[in-house]
Amino acid sequence: MEQEITQIDDLKTAAKALLDFAGNEKVFLFYGGMGAGKTTFIKELCTSLGSTDNFSSPTYSIVNEYQSPAGKLFHFDFYRLKNATELLDIGIDEYLYSGNYCFIEWPQLAEVFLDGFYISVNIKVQENNRYLRASKQGT
Ligand SMILES: Nc1ncnc2c1ncn2[C@@H]1O[C@H](COP(=O)(O)OP(=O)(O)O)[C@@H](O)[C@H]1O
Ligand SMILES: [Mg+2]
Repeated sequence: MEQEITQIDDLKTAAKALLDFAGNEKVFLFYGGMGAGKTTFIKELCTSLGSTDNFSSPTYSIVNEYQSPAGKLFHFDFYRLKNATELLDIGIDEYLYSGNYCFIEWPQLAEVFLDGFYISVNIKVQENNRYLRASKQGT
């Protein structure tokens, strides 16, 4: 299942569309290079889910936790991780199977821990526009 949510210049509309597309799925993997807009988009998703917490990039902290009416929201950034062992150290599977929303930037190292369905999101920048494509993956 794939959905093209092309222009994400209207972040609010795009965030709602992605949450609709995801339905009950709560694990989101964000692919896209540095500066693609992953953090910005995740912030919009958290806002869309009703969170009013202070938002920051978890580049140094690995995981940030926000409160929302939809429950805890977990925001990961694995850019600085060197290997999957570090994910075991933070208890990655507990987060992934907690039933809470998990938004993951630089998710490559986490792929081996995934089970069930998840939402794969690709953000691309072309000229001055950002494009988002989402697909439901897994078994
Ligand atoms: N949809 C957008 N429209 C305009 N500017 C954006 C958009 N998304 C991100 N940006 C800007 O691009 C820069 C990088 O965004 P960021 O979300 O930090 O990227 P990433 O997390 O993918 O590295 C920031 O300055 C941000 O304000
Ligand atoms: Mg980022």
